[in-house]
Amino acid sequence: MAPHPIFAKQAQKAKGFCTALLAITALVATTHAALAAPRHAPAPAPATAPSFTAEQADHGAQIYAGTCAMCHGAALEGAHDMPPLRGLFVARWANTPLNKLYAYITHAMPLMAPGTLPPQDNIDIMAFLLRENGTEPGHTPLPADENRLAQMVFPAPNALPPVKAAPPGKAPRTR
Ligand code: HEC
Repeated sequence: MAPHPIFAKQAQKAKGFCTALLAITALVATTHAALAAPRHAPAPAPATAPSFTAEQADHGAQIYAGTCAMCHGAALEGAHDMPPLRGLFVARWANTPLNKLYAYITHAMPLMAPGTLPPQDNIDIMAFLLRENGTEPGHTPLPADENRLAQMVFPAPNALPPVKAAPPGKAPRTR
Protein backbone atom coordinates (compact mmCIF):
# COMPACT_ATOMS: atom_id res chain seq x y z
CA MET A 1 0.00 0.00 0.00
CA ALA A 2 1.29 3.43 -0.87
CA PRO A 3 1.96 5.73 2.11
CA HIS A 4 -0.79 8.12 2.97
CA PRO A 5 -0.32 11.31 0.94
CA ILE A 6 0.28 13.33 4.09
CA PHE A 7 3.27 11.13 4.99
CA ALA A 8 4.62 11.30 1.49
CA LYS A 9 4.34 15.07 1.61
CA GLN A 10 6.17 15.20 4.93
CA ALA A 11 8.93 12.92 3.65
CA GLN A 12 9.28 15.23 0.65
CA LYS A 13 9.52 18.21 2.95
CA ALA A 14 12.14 16.51 5.11
CA LYS A 15 14.17 15.65 2.02
CA GLY A 16 14.03 19.23 0.86
CA PHE A 17 15.17 20.43 4.25
CA CYS A 18 18.09 17.97 4.25
CA THR A 19 19.17 19.10 0.79
CA ALA A 20 19.06 22.72 1.88
CA LEU A 21 21.05 21.88 5.01
CA LEU A 22 23.64 20.03 2.95
CA ALA A 23 23.93 22.96 0.58
CA ILE A 24 24.41 25.38 3.47
CA THR A 25 27.00 23.11 5.09
CA ALA A 26 28.90 22.90 1.82
CA LEU A 27 28.74 26.66 1.39
CA VAL A 28 30.01 27.30 4.91
CA ALA A 29 32.80 24.78 4.40
CA THR A 30 33.93 26.41 1.13
CA THR A 31 33.72 29.91 2.54
CA HIS A 32 35.73 28.83 5.54
CA ALA A 33 38.33 27.12 3.38
CA ALA A 34 38.58 30.19 1.17
CA LEU A 35 39.06 32.53 4.11
CA ALA A 36 41.09 30.26 6.35
CA ALA A 37 44.72 31.14 6.71
CA PRO A 38 47.05 28.68 4.99
CA ARG A 39 48.31 25.83 7.15
CA HIS A 40 50.97 24.89 4.61
CA ALA A 41 53.17 27.24 2.69
CA PRO A 42 52.61 26.89 -1.06
CA ALA A 43 55.43 25.94 -3.43
CA PRO A 44 57.85 28.85 -3.72
CA ALA A 45 57.28 30.94 -6.85
CA PRO A 46 59.64 33.55 -8.24
CA ALA A 47 58.96 36.37 -5.86
CA THR A 48 60.33 39.74 -4.95
CA ALA A 49 60.91 40.78 -1.35
CA PRO A 50 58.09 42.97 -0.06
CA SER A 51 58.81 46.67 -0.02
CA PHE A 52 57.00 49.34 1.97
CA THR A 53 57.75 52.76 3.38
CA ALA A 54 58.10 53.79 7.02
CA GLU A 55 55.17 56.19 6.49
CA GLN A 56 52.95 53.26 5.49
CA ALA A 57 53.99 51.26 8.54
CA ASP A 58 53.44 54.27 10.83
CA HIS A 59 49.97 54.80 9.42
CA GLY A 60 49.30 51.06 9.69
CA ALA A 61 50.34 51.20 13.35
CA GLN A 62 47.70 53.85 14.01
CA ILE A 63 44.96 51.84 12.33
CA TYR A 64 46.13 48.70 14.10
CA ALA A 65 46.05 50.40 17.51
CA GLY A 66 42.50 51.58 16.96
CA THR A 67 41.00 48.58 15.18
CA CYS A 68 43.00 45.42 15.82
CA ALA A 69 44.98 45.76 19.06
CA MET A 70 41.91 45.16 21.26
CA CYS A 71 42.01 41.52 20.14
CA HIS A 72 45.52 40.86 18.81
CA GLY A 73 47.30 42.84 21.54
CA ALA A 74 49.19 46.12 21.51
CA ALA A 75 52.41 44.19 20.88
CA LEU A 76 50.78 41.70 18.47
CA GLU A 77 51.09 39.11 21.20
CA GLY A 78 47.53 37.78 20.90
CA ALA A 79 45.38 36.76 23.83
CA HIS A 80 43.13 33.95 24.91
CA ASP A 81 41.53 32.65 21.68
CA MET A 82 43.06 35.55 19.74
CA PRO A 83 45.98 34.57 17.52
CA PRO A 84 49.23 36.54 17.81
CA LEU A 85 50.38 38.46 14.74
CA ARG A 86 54.04 37.64 15.37
CA GLY A 87 55.97 34.44 16.05
CA LEU A 88 53.64 31.60 15.08
CA PHE A 89 51.88 33.99 12.73
CA VAL A 90 55.08 34.44 10.72
CA ALA A 91 55.65 30.70 10.62
CA ARG A 92 52.12 30.24 9.29
CA TRP A 93 52.35 32.90 6.59
CA ALA A 94 56.01 32.57 5.57
CA ASN A 95 56.47 32.27 1.80
CA THR A 96 52.78 32.93 1.24
CA PRO A 97 52.06 35.51 -1.46
CA LEU A 98 51.02 38.80 0.11
CA ASN A 99 47.79 39.01 -1.90
CA LYS A 100 46.57 36.07 0.23
CA LEU A 101 47.23 37.90 3.49
CA TYR A 102 45.69 41.01 1.98
CA ALA A 103 42.58 39.04 0.99
CA TYR A 104 42.33 37.52 4.45
CA ILE A 105 42.60 40.84 6.25
CA THR A 106 40.25 42.49 3.76
CA HIS A 107 37.51 39.85 3.94
CA ALA A 108 37.80 38.46 7.48
CA MET A 109 39.05 41.33 9.66
CA PRO A 110 38.33 43.16 11.85
CA LEU A 111 36.35 40.23 13.23
CA MET A 112 33.35 42.30 14.36
CA ALA A 113 33.07 44.23 11.09
CA PRO A 114 34.91 42.40 8.29
CA GLY A 115 35.68 44.34 5.14
CA THR A 116 34.99 47.77 6.57
CA LEU A 117 38.50 49.21 6.29
CA PRO A 118 39.47 51.10 3.12
CA PRO A 119 41.99 49.21 0.92
CA GLN A 120 44.82 51.64 1.70
CA ASP A 121 44.38 51.06 5.43
CA ASN A 122 44.68 47.30 4.94
CA ILE A 123 47.82 47.79 2.83
CA ASP A 124 49.35 50.01 5.50
CA ILE A 125 48.46 47.49 8.23
CA MET A 126 50.37 44.87 6.21
CA ALA A 127 53.35 47.24 6.05
CA PHE A 128 53.11 47.56 9.84
CA LEU A 129 52.91 43.75 10.27
CA LEU A 130 55.97 43.32 8.02
CA ARG A 131 57.96 45.90 9.99
CA GLU A 132 56.94 44.49 13.36
CA ASN A 133 58.04 41.08 12.17
CA GLY A 134 61.51 42.18 11.17
CA THR A 135 61.36 43.47 7.58
CA GLU A 136 63.05 46.85 7.09
CA PRO A 137 61.09 49.67 5.43
CA GLY A 138 62.45 51.09 2.18
CA HIS A 139 61.66 53.68 -0.46
CA THR A 140 59.15 51.75 -2.57
CA PRO A 141 55.61 51.72 -1.16
CA LEU A 142 53.73 48.46 -0.75
CA PRO A 143 51.39 48.55 -3.76
CA ALA A 144 47.61 48.50 -3.39
CA ASP A 145 47.53 46.14 -6.37
CA GLU A 146 46.67 42.49 -5.89
CA ASN A 147 48.63 41.34 -8.95
CA ARG A 148 51.78 42.98 -7.68
CA LEU A 149 51.17 41.75 -4.14
CA ALA A 150 50.95 38.24 -5.62
CA GLN A 151 54.60 38.62 -6.69
CA MET A 152 55.73 39.21 -3.09
CA VAL A 153 55.83 36.68 -0.26
CA PHE A 154 55.81 37.07 3.51
CA PRO A 155 59.46 36.67 4.62
CA ALA A 156 60.32 33.30 6.17
CA PRO A 157 61.19 33.16 9.89
CA ASN A 158 64.81 32.16 9.31
CA ALA A 159 65.24 35.49 7.55
CA LEU A 160 64.18 37.22 10.76
CA PRO A 161 65.62 37.79 14.22
CA PRO A 162 64.34 35.31 16.86
CA VAL A 163 61.07 36.13 18.59
CA LYS A 164 61.52 37.55 22.09
CA ALA A 165 60.68 35.17 24.92
CA ALA A 166 57.76 35.95 27.20
CA PRO A 167 58.72 38.38 29.98
CA PRO A 168 59.79 36.70 33.25
CA GLY A 169 56.96 36.03 35.67
CA LYS A 170 54.53 35.34 32.88
CA ALA A 171 53.78 31.65 33.07
CA PRO A 172 53.02 29.92 29.79
CA ARG A 173 49.31 29.44 29.38
CA THR A 174 47.97 25.95 29.96
CA ARG A 175 44.54 24.96 28.84
C1 HEC B 1 37.18 41.13 17.82
C2 HEC B 1 38.50 40.56 17.82
C3 HEC B 1 39.37 40.81 16.59
C4 HEC B 1 39.67 42.01 16.00
C5 HEC B 1 39.19 43.39 16.39
C6 HEC B 1 40.58 41.70 14.91
N1 HEC B 1 40.83 40.36 14.86
FE1 HEC B 1 42.08 39.42 13.57
N2 HEC B 1 41.55 37.62 14.33
C7 HEC B 1 40.67 37.44 15.38
C8 HEC B 1 40.46 36.01 15.57
C9 HEC B 1 39.58 35.36 16.62
C10 HEC B 1 41.22 35.37 14.57
C11 HEC B 1 41.29 33.88 14.29
C12 HEC B 1 40.20 33.59 13.28
C13 HEC B 1 40.20 32.16 12.80
O1 HEC B 1 41.14 31.41 13.07
O2 HEC B 1 39.23 31.81 12.07
C14 HEC B 1 41.91 36.40 13.83
C15 HEC B 1 42.80 36.15 12.80
C16 HEC B 1 43.56 37.14 12.19
C17 HEC B 1 44.64 36.89 11.27
C18 HEC B 1 45.17 35.52 10.85
C19 HEC B 1 46.17 35.09 11.91
C20 HEC B 1 46.94 33.86 11.53
O3 HEC B 1 47.74 33.36 12.35
O4 HEC B 1 46.78 33.36 10.42
C21 HEC B 1 45.11 38.10 10.86
C22 HEC B 1 46.23 38.36 9.90
C23 HEC B 1 44.31 39.10 11.53
N3 HEC B 1 43.39 38.49 12.34
C24 HEC B 1 44.48 40.45 11.36
C25 HEC B 1 43.65 41.41 11.95
C26 HEC B 1 43.74 42.82 11.65
C27 HEC B 1 44.73 43.44 10.69
C28 HEC B 1 42.79 43.44 12.39
C29 HEC B 1 42.44 44.90 12.42
C30 HEC B 1 42.06 45.47 11.14
C31 HEC B 1 42.12 42.41 13.17
N4 HEC B 1 42.67 41.19 12.86
C32 HEC B 1 41.12 42.65 14.07
C33 HEC B 1 40.10 38.43 16.15
C34 HEC B 1 40.11 39.78 15.86
